[in-house]
Amino acid sequence: MMSHSEQQTLEIAAEFAATLKGGEIVFLEGDLGTGKTTFVRGVARSMGFEEPVRSPTFTIMNRYPVSQEQIKELLHLDLYRIEDSKELQTLALEEEVGLPRTVTFIEWPVRAQEWGIQPSHEIRFETGPEGHDIEINEKTTV
Ligand SMILES: Nc1ncnc2c1ncn2[C@@H]1O[C@H](COP(=O)(O)OP(=O)(O)OP(=O)(O)O)[C@@H](O)[C@H]1O
Ligand SMILES: [Mg+2]
Repeated sequence: MMSHSEQQTLEIAAEFAATLKGGEIVFLEGDLGTGKTTFVRGVARSMGFEEPVRSPTFTIMNRYPVSQEQIKELLHLDLYRIEDSKELQTLALEEEVGLPRTVTFIEWPVRAQEWGIQPSHEIRFETGPEGHDIEINEKTTV
């Protein structure tokens, strides 16, 4: 769907957030500045997290505590600077990513995929003359 403003992206993200049950792993695909972080901010805001939500490019991973019935923490990763998936070892992702009380969002997820992390959702962001396009795909599990 097409977003014509940052506000509209926040609203689309809030609608998506309402479908989350916990344990989801969301890959965010798309070029620089297409709205990936804005989308995560919309999810976090809709769950009552009011502090800054920025791309964790240097810190790799941010944590946003939320007090939803089932979801207690959002994990927000940006792997843009990770050149080798072995660099992910120190994060001990397997201890948290995919747990029922967390929802994980990963910008630039290719290294995570190499590390063996499978997404429950893939969201594609593309900016064009019409606006910012957001395409949400739920991955079917076998
Ligand atoms: N419809 C829209 N949806 C989202 N962002 C928009 C929209 N229109 C304009 N913008 C602007 O585009 C920028 C998107 O930046 P954002 O940080 O969300 O991108 P990103 O995909 O996370 O980039 P990066 O890969 O560098 O982390 C923001 O400055 C935002 O205000
Ligand atoms: Mg970003």
